[in-house]
Amino acid sequence: MMDSKKAKLTLANGTTIDLPIIEGSLGKPAIDISALSENGYVTYDPGFMSTASCDSSITFIDGEKSILLHRGYPIEQLAEQCDFLDVSYLLLNGELPNESEKNAYVGEIKKHYLLHDQLNSVFKGFRRDAHPMAVMAAVVASKSAFYFDEMNVYNRNHRRLSANRLIAKVPSIAAWSYLYNLGRPFNYPRNDLGYAANFLNMLFSSPTQAYHLNPILVRAFERILILHADHEQNASTSTVRLVGSSGANPFACIAAGIASLWGPAHGGANEATLKMLQEIKNENRINEYIERAKDKTDSFRLMGFGHRVYRNKDPRAEIMRKTCHEVLSELGLENDSIFKLAMKLEKIALEDEYFVEKKLYPNVDFYSGIVMRALGIPNSMFTAVFALARTAGWIAHWNEMFLDDNLKIGRPRQIYKGKTQRNVPSGRNVSKY
Ligand code: SDX
Repeated sequence: MMDSKKAKLTLANGTTIDLPIIEGSLGKPAIDISALSENGYVTYDPGFMSTASCDSSITFIDGEKSILLHRGYPIEQLAEQCDFLDVSYLLLNGELPNESEKNAYVGEIKKHYLLHDQLNSVFKGFRRDAHPMAVMAAVVASKSAFYFDEMNVYNRNHRRLSANRLIAKVPSIAAWSYLYNLGRPFNYPRNDLGYAANFLNMLFSSPTQAYHLNPILVRAFERILILHADHEQNASTSTVRLVGSSGANPFACIAAGIASLWGPAHGGANEATLKMLQEIKNENRINEYIERAKDKTDSFRLMGFGHRVYRNKDPRAEIMRKTCHEVLSELGLENDSIFKLAMKLEKIALEDEYFVEKKLYPNVDFYSGIVMRALGIPNSMFTAVFALARTAGWIAHWNEMFLDDNLKIGRPRQIYKGKTQRNVPSGRNVSKY
């Protein structure tokens, strides 16, 4: 039973518990179940399909209406009218920066662009074929060895400094992770370039050949960063919050987020989607893969499709598809076979009753790989770019946790299904040394 402010739960033994209803500013109301444990019960919700782990003011998603807001601003407007550091500032501070705030923030970020020179040796400990995500996670974690005197997570100035350091340095860490794969010298960040241009320049320029920054391609890449900046309590953001709830340092938290994002069900889907498209190769094989995706005995899933929250189109996918068109036409690749295959696959899937019935639509990862490939970014770097962008969202959620006076260490319960208590058999031959 529910009235506007509480739900009544009647337990098997007839006890009735009043459970408060919590209303946010948008979205579904929540039932506060914290009283259950004192009444001898826990709840069970694998994958947290119906469980809010926290309250937050950063991002709101309405999966039915394809709405994505960052601090109340629709993603469509942010992607068109802002740059990535506008959005990073917004996620962290709650408001878009005015001109003087933006100049000060950009100045702060550029002040921290450079990596400590000793970090070069951390990269050199890897094999040349190490996946950039493995390198990024390790190098970001190693940053906690450089700033231990300014990592008091309960000190807001230390939190702000760590946030700026991470947003400033993660582009170099991502770019160098790839340059190390190639055996190329590391390119240093440049203060005369914007955030997106700086990353592309580090990735593609070389001592012998400057990289031409095409403003249309730079803007398209900046839009990719904005689209990936934050997305509520997704797996990697929830990971960052859980690690952060123990008071762990911000670099360890973001490294944990990078590790979680790497999974193919999450941020690794962009790399997996392009591999899938390259494997399908031509349109007459699409139905074979659609049937495999529907076959419960086959572990194959249509990569880039489906979402835990969006039961309608992912608004980011729409913007990403337009960006795809823009980049491919700028590069004269309108007839790119992979892009045409992707659009055909999307069309067929969206007309298939399995995908319609299960509300499986293209998500942000379906087109992002095609755009990044067209920009010359290699498959192995797609999730690293995702991590680069999501660092802004991760660190905003990490910071928001500490603004909550009721912050508790995250410690979920379980349903135990193991052996009940029993005794070790007597007479065991315990080693005598
Ligand atoms: C991201 O959470 C976020 O916000 C994530 C993200 C962000 O910005 O942080 O948006 C980024 O991770 C996007 C998602 C990228 N992943 C992929 O594209 C991988 C392919 N997608 C699936 O693995 C899946 O759709 C998930 C993981 C994205 C969502 O899975 P859910 O919510 O756990 O849904 P589910 O597995 O319970 O699926 C429901 C049904 C199942 O069938 P039934 O058991 O009900 O018969 O739909 C089927 C699934 O088998 N299904 C798919 C499918 N996705 C779901 N069948 C075929 N192909 C798919 N892609």
